[in-house]
Amino acid sequence: MRSEARIGLAVVMLMAAVGTASALSIKNSKHDLSKDATGVTYQATNTDQICVFCHTPHNAVQNIPLWNRTNPTASNFTLYSSSSMNNKPVKSGFTADSISLFCMSCHDGATGLGSAVHNDPNGTPITMDASGSVISGDANLTTDLQDDHPVNFLVTAADISADGNLGSLDTATNPPTMKTADVSKGLPLFKSGRGDTTLECGSCHAVHDNTNAPFLRTTMAGSKLCLGCHKK
Ligand code: HEC
Ligand code: HEC
Ligand code: HEC
Ligand code: HEC
Repeated sequence: MRSEARIGLAVVMLMAAVGTASALSIKNSKHDLSKDATGVTYQATNTDQICVFCHTPHNAVQNIPLWNRTNPTASNFTLYSSSSMNNKPVKSGFTADSISLFCMSCHDGATGLGSAVHNDPNGTPITMDASGSVISGDANLTTDLQDDHPVNFLVTAADISADGNLGSLDTATNPPTMKTADVSKGLPLFKSGRGDTTLECGSCHAVHDNTNAPFLRTTMAGSKLCLGCHKK
């Protein structure tokens, strides 16, 4: 093969690889609540916008991440806690800026899915179709999260080392991450009122990307996600 042809082929293959990597999208995932979404459980009757359910470009209710929903009361939640945790668990209440609380503004099974603060179109409240305006079934985690993986707690290098079976903390990355040798990409930690490296729903879940269903940061095949933080 002539070298130009070989380079041409390499470029085509690279483009194909990039194409696969960027295939992720919230469109037509269960987080696409717009009226035109296909194959979803819950959807609106009067807006074809996707981001509006969670974000607004202006006058956000909470600055980060330009949040467009009124969150449920943070103190009403109960979180997982156990005496064997080295990183300090918090039994009662989220911090008001917790990304996990943002998820619970739908996954509490009580807050209206369409209750975005700044609405489309032109301020008309979003109405949901007959499938329902609140989440029911398994995706309704309720306000009692004692039976769910701990979230909204501070992860520190000292407590990781005291535990002895957790991946390392990298605060040089943006966002800070946690990882073991089992994963190539670190799992993200977030900022909250408890500190700059809190573990939240978003540490395991990618809200905009259902490549690894259900919205996971990496596959659960061989429990890879769990082994990405726990050395077991
Ligand atoms: C179901 C709620 C929801 C919808 C719908 C949604 N987002 Fe998000 N988005 C979030 C949450 C929660 C975060 C913060 C947590 C995180 O980054 O994992 C976030 C973070 C972001 C961020 C900052 C972090 C990052 O991932 O880059 C951007 C940019 C963003 N969203 C853009 C969008 C756009 C554009 C749309 C519409 C196409 C959209 N989002 C739809 C919930 C949503
Ligand atoms: C982003 C990193 C991360 C991922 C991914 C993760 N964990 Fe954890 N997990 C932690 C941290 C940190 C703790 C707190 C451990 C401590 O401080 O002792 C924890 C705590 C736990 C606990 C409670 C331990 C106790 O002492 O009470 C269990 C059980 C657990 N994880 C199981 C899992 C399982 C199962 C998975 C996969 C579905 C998983 N974890 C995925 C970081 C993670
Ligand atoms: C605007 C409302 C809304 C917000 C905010 C939201 N979700 Fe969801 N989520 C939904 C709906 C609706 C479903 C579909 C439930 C069903 O089909 O039973 C869903 C489903 C899911 C599922 C299950 C998907 C499946 O295939 O079964 C996961 C996991 C999930 N969400 C995680 C999150 C996480 C993590 C956050 C925060 C980062 C979040 N969600 C924020 C509305 C929301
Ligand atoms: C330690 C990792 C981890 C954390 C943290 C985590 N999840 Fe999950 N979540 C998972 C995994 C893994 C599954 C898939 C479980 C399965 O299929 O057996 C899942 C499933 C779900 C589902 C689908 C319903 C179900 O019961 O299978 C929803 C909804 C969900 N998560 C929402 C959340 C929300 C909201 C938070 C934060 C309050 C959160 N998750 C925190 C790992 C996590």
